[in-house]
Amino acid sequence: MINQLVSATYIVSCLLFVLALQGLSKHETAKRGNALGVVGMGLALLAAIVDMMQGRPNTTSLALLVAAVAIGAVIGIVKAFRVKMTGMPQLVAQLHSFVGLAAVLVGYNSYLKSSVGSTTHEAETFIGIFIGAITFTGSIVAWAKLAERLPSRPLLLPAHNLINLALLAGCGGLAYWFITAAQAGKSSAWMPLVLMTVLALALGFHLVAAIGGADMPVVVSMLNSYSGWAAAFAGFTIGADILVVTGALVGSSGAILSYIMCRAMNRSFLSVILGGFGSTTTQLGPTVDAGTERETTPAAVAELLWNAEEVIITPGYGMAVAQAQYPVAELTKRLRDRGITVRFGIHPVAGRLPGHMNVLLAEAKVPYDIVYEMDEINDDFAHTDVVLVIGANDTVNPAAMQPGTPISGMPVLHVWEAHNVVVFKRGRGAGYAGVPNPLFTSDNAALCFGDARTTLQAILAALPA
Ligand code: TAP
Repeated sequence: MINQLVSATYIVSCLLFVLALQGLSKHETAKRGNALGVVGMGLALLAAIVDMMQGRPNTTSLALLVAAVAIGAVIGIVKAFRVKMTGMPQLVAQLHSFVGLAAVLVGYNSYLKSSVGSTTHEAETFIGIFIGAITFTGSIVAWAKLAERLPSRPLLLPAHNLINLALLAGCGGLAYWFITAAQAGKSSAWMPLVLMTVLALALGFHLVAAIGGADMPVVVSMLNSYSGWAAAFAGFTIGADILVVTGALVGSSGAILSYIMCRAMNRSFLSVILGGFGSTTTQLGPTVDAGTERETTPAAVAELLWNAEEVIITPGYGMAVAQAQYPVAELTKRLRDRGITVRFGIHPVAGRLPGHMNVLLAEAKVPYDIVYEMDEINDDFAHTDVVLVIGANDTVNPAAMQPGTPISGMPVLHVWEAHNVVVFKRGRGAGYAGVPNPLFTSDNAALCFGDARTTLQAILAALPA
């Protein structure tokens, strides 16, 4: 009876995970999707505990399990409350690294404990540890780059593709050694398993270290996918169906997201998997050609906006840093009340997370129907009176249309085609990819220096009553 209840709970959890993913695909249903995912995971955890206690009915195991879950939950809750929206990508990368490490440990544990030598089980163990180790070091490098502990530029060793191929081939050879050695006796198979783990750790490090500039979004979604597959294989090795299903859902949705990101960034999916794409040796200079840019003031921007008919706002990472979404929403309301058409143009990789800008705008209650994706709005800049670039840089950089820079080939918002462009930034800081931005010195652009939130509040104060 208890077994059947546990199985039924697992099925309900899986359904809730599918519904959660469906909910997360749209702004309007994202919160509900999140809640369904939380309930599904809660049920799955409960069922897993009951399931485990079935085979080991002693209080020490239960106490250890509850203590582990409680410690993990407390750390998770504290982290979630403390993390700022701008720190989310780093946190996500950290969590992926935990999944990778867990898959490696589960794989070793399962191999240590298994008594019967089955080739299928050995293959599952080997693949689970391989993907887990790549995910672990890859995610740590991604975390370090996003948290600015490592420079975001790519680490380009000579013949880096050959290094990747050699590491992969080495792991392939070790797989053969491992399987044949395991048939002969368990003790002789440890060596290839440990050697493969070391090579896979090096491969994960090298794959992600070779990617830099503006291409990190694809890496983060790719690691998300890897972490899912690592969990799925860990599920195979310990015979946990729920882990297989959950891992496969994360793995496949991460792969779909990576594919969407690749299309948005105009990168090839294969080159992402191989690492080191988008790498270039361009010399990077200052981001603003000092002396030739035109500066403006909040009062002048307020006047420009008040006399406009069509306005487009293109937010970027700086809006998240400044938490400027609330004055942006207030400004939008004031202008719309005057009869001015205000729309938002969102680049697919603006900010540091997929959908980062959409989340912030939704939080500030900007109506969804005036928020457009890049492809939907890019042809409209040419007949727009004023474009406000709020803390965006790479995503509005016309240098992406020229060859030879780390962002070359990435589609960008054509803000420079508007009659007037106002750029909000604090100073001469670079965009994420560190590429100089000729927009800042173009004739129709003016820079409004200062923290975006403070500047927008000053503009609101300067608008006629
Ligand atoms: P960025 O290129 O990162 O530029 C942000 C700009 O905001 C900078 O020029 C900075 O200039 C300004 N800024 C920072 N704080 C500010 C503040 N408080 N007030 C006003 N301005 C401020 O932004 P983007 O255009 O959104 O591009 C995103 C980049 O991140 C892309 O290269 C993308 O590939 C990468 N990335 C994206 C993701 C995802 S999934 N979205 C993940 C990882 C990486 P100052 O310092 O001069 O103020």
